[in-house]
Amino acid sequence: MLDIRTAPVQPAAIHRADYRPPDWLVPAIALEFDLDPARTVVRARLEVARNGEHDRALRLDGEELELLSLAVDGQAVDPQFEDGQLVVPLTGASAVVETEVAIRPQVNTKLMGLYASGGLLCTQCESQGFRRITWFPDRPDVLSRYRVRMSADRQRFPVLLSNGNPVDGGEGPDGTHWAQWEDPFPKPCYLFALVAGELSVNRDSFTTASGREVELGIWVREDDLAKTGHAMRALKDSMAWDERTYGREYDLDRFNIVAVSDFNFGAMENKGLNIFNTRYVLADRETASDADFDAVAAVVAHEYFHNWSGNRVTCRDWFQLSLKEGLTVFRDQSFSEDMGSQAVERIDQVRTLRAAQFPEDAGPLAHPIRPDSYIEITNFYTATVYNKGAEVIRMLRTILGPDDYRRGTDLYFERYDGQAVTCEDFVQALEDASGHDLTQFRRWYSQAGTPTIRARLVQEDGAAVLHLTQSTPPTPGQADKLPMVVPLRTALIGRESGREVAGEQVVLLTEAEQTVRFEGVTEPALLSINRDFSAPVIMQVERAAGELEALAISDTDSFARYEAIQELALRELLKGIGGGEVQADPVIAALRSTLLSNALDPAFKADALILPSETMLAERLDQSDPSVVHRVRDDLRAAIGTALRSELEDAYAASSRADPESLTGEDKGLRRLRAATLGYLAAADPERARALAAAQFDAARTMTERQSALGMLAMVGGSEAEAALGAFYERFKGDPLVIDKWFGVQASVAAEDTIERVEALAAHPDFTLANPNRLRALAGSFAATPFAFHRADGRGYEWLADVILKADAINPQTAARFVPPLGRWRKVEPGRAALMRSALERILAAPGLSKDVFEQASKSLG
Ligand code: PHE
Ligand code: ZN
Repeated sequence: MLDIRTAPVQPAAIHRADYRPPDWLVPAIALEFDLDPARTVVRARLEVARNGEHDRALRLDGEELELLSLAVDGQAVDPQFEDGQLVVPLTGASAVVETEVAIRPQVNTKLMGLYASGGLLCTQCESQGFRRITWFPDRPDVLSRYRVRMSADRQRFPVLLSNGNPVDGGEGPDGTHWAQWEDPFPKPCYLFALVAGELSVNRDSFTTASGREVELGIWVREDDLAKTGHAMRALKDSMAWDERTYGREYDLDRFNIVAVSDFNFGAMENKGLNIFNTRYVLADRETASDADFDAVAAVVAHEYFHNWSGNRVTCRDWFQLSLKEGLTVFRDQSFSEDMGSQAVERIDQVRTLRAAQFPEDAGPLAHPIRPDSYIEITNFYTATVYNKGAEVIRMLRTILGPDDYRRGTDLYFERYDGQAVTCEDFVQALEDASGHDLTQFRRWYSQAGTPTIRARLVQEDGAAVLHLTQSTPPTPGQADKLPMVVPLRTALIGRESGREVAGEQVVLLTEAEQTVRFEGVTEPALLSINRDFSAPVIMQVERAAGELEALAISDTDSFARYEAIQELALRELLKGIGGGEVQADPVIAALRSTLLSNALDPAFKADALILPSETMLAERLDQSDPSVVHRVRDDLRAAIGTALRSELEDAYAASSRADPESLTGEDKGLRRLRAATLGYLAAADPERARALAAAQFDAARTMTERQSALGMLAMVGGSEAEAALGAFYERFKGDPLVIDKWFGVQASVAAEDTIERVEALAAHPDFTLANPNRLRALAGSFAATPFAFHRADGRGYEWLADVILKADAINPQTAARFVPPLGRWRKVEPGRAALMRSALERILAAPGLSKDVFEQASKSLG
């Protein structure tokens, strides 16, 4: 009876405009858990208080709960249910409501609520998982003080953790023990957490600016303890950074992180007890690549920063998700920029935005960073809410300047501490603290779609005049768009002198059309615009002949220089895809001078070498044939590899000097350059690359080198590839995170027969649909490899649809995340588009579909 899956014919949408404050508050809750994977009993004691004058009953949310008893003020009550809620009529201004329920962690494959992962019991409550633990008003604007008592078998669950501080504990009957924790900070139930199991801890401590000692713990399986050093360092760096940069100090006596192997997302910021996907905690030289090390540090920082941006000040409702996520991503991005190379970090951020968010904004699932409606909120943990949300905060800082921005965030944290607030409240705080009028800027919160900015520079009579226009395309539900506020960092660079003839300034575009005059510019000038990617827009600049070529070697802003090279390549690639002739020479010249530069660091060179992705190219076209896109891009890569052969060989050889023990920007950059140059050598001469990659694989001293060599071998194929894949598997078969790479590498091969390999891998004994990391490694990697995924006969689409349907029966949240690649059909030539649509139709026709997949598939068909 418990696992009947609701099969709504047409699940209802929830609208932001319908928000109403809660009828009842719950200032305090005491929870008691008798933990057992098969059947856990949860007793909850809620102190409830009527919120305002009304006579409405208390309504509690619950899902898959077996109700054992209900009492109000100590009296047993017969339960009444309405629309899946438990309805409790109450007469006074306050009451004590007690429930007892049983839940089944062992069969909880959705990984929401209390579930079992590798012998542990752990919780995931954001966004609506708490209702799978106990009856409660499961909404973020109900903040409560938590007291939690956990009891469990001492042998199997020696460690018992929850939010806040441990206050008591002891032995219980029948080999059990118990612990009691209290969290002094009121919090919404989505931040509740507990963990029970056999865990080892890496302990450390941090002294806050005001001199308080915080005990830090990273809890993992014993075998993984040696892989926690990097996360611990990142945690301490984050704590110091947040004090320095935002004046935010940690507030509890302990901060714990636990790593679990089954997790729907990256990690979770539960108050004082962050729970992480192992992938974002564990790292050592043998098993983690440089990218993994960086991701660990960024996610540790992200979750830690939520302690203020999310926990101390939280969201009023889930439409405000970007309030905490956009701000926190921006904070973790700034942290990474400060700890590493600003330009390289920024290039990576923009690459991610273009790969994940621009397509979303241009497709059927486009939504503003503050959505207006949803069917299933889990579908809105998107690149738009997160990454575009972060870009919006970055623009606010650019417009206000760093000092006013800081005054604004100080006011925000002070004014709303302990409250559940809205995106509007955040903007208001920035406005009040800075005196800036942000009325028009607020459109970034309500309008979806990526604005396109057209720019043209005209020089006359000793001045330069910049002509700008903007337009934002229609998106679902939003036919007409108003002009946005677009901050464009702009400089003019003398064509001959190479110096800035107009120093960088922020041009604020606010109208549909606008001109800006730069006086006293006599030398012919190059337009360097949207420097550092100051606005998340598509720039279309009318360029004079030779202008991009000149910027590609002389722009004084590293990001803009990178952009010029990208634009140069993009221009030729789009020409080629359109059937025109590709001029490789300008691209080759720009890359040659980049490679040979003594001033540029290796990471920048590596980034500059990577041509615009197939996804980005497809985005720039109304419709395209993925195999044409792939061929044109591959041909240009081959031309570059051939023309720059000796420079690439030199750079490849020189990059071997990277110190394997070191994670400095220089050494990581060298390894990145090694991978990029190897890629070009392979494009030009697969045989030579096969030999180089095989040698690199055998001699690899880091996972970075080993993984890139393996990827290259898998790409060129042959017996070396099979041998390397076999050796890699044998060496790492005990390590799930590395085996994920093994699946991912094979599913990412841009080849027509990858689907066959993927189908075979899905039958591999190590493959399971139940583990989100493994599923992402195979299905996610495959769907992100356009040439493989878009095989003309539609076999890739069919396979993905099958996987979605099978995964939906286990874990709808994760299953739904694989739908959007099928929703890109409008951008694909008609033959494949029809096949994509029919895969979506087949998904929608399946009986018992979850709300999660229903929403994504129905919107994708549009
Ligand atoms: N709030 C988490 C984060 O971004 C993401 C998350 C959402 C994790 C939902 C689990 C479930 O930090
Ligand atoms: Zn977050």
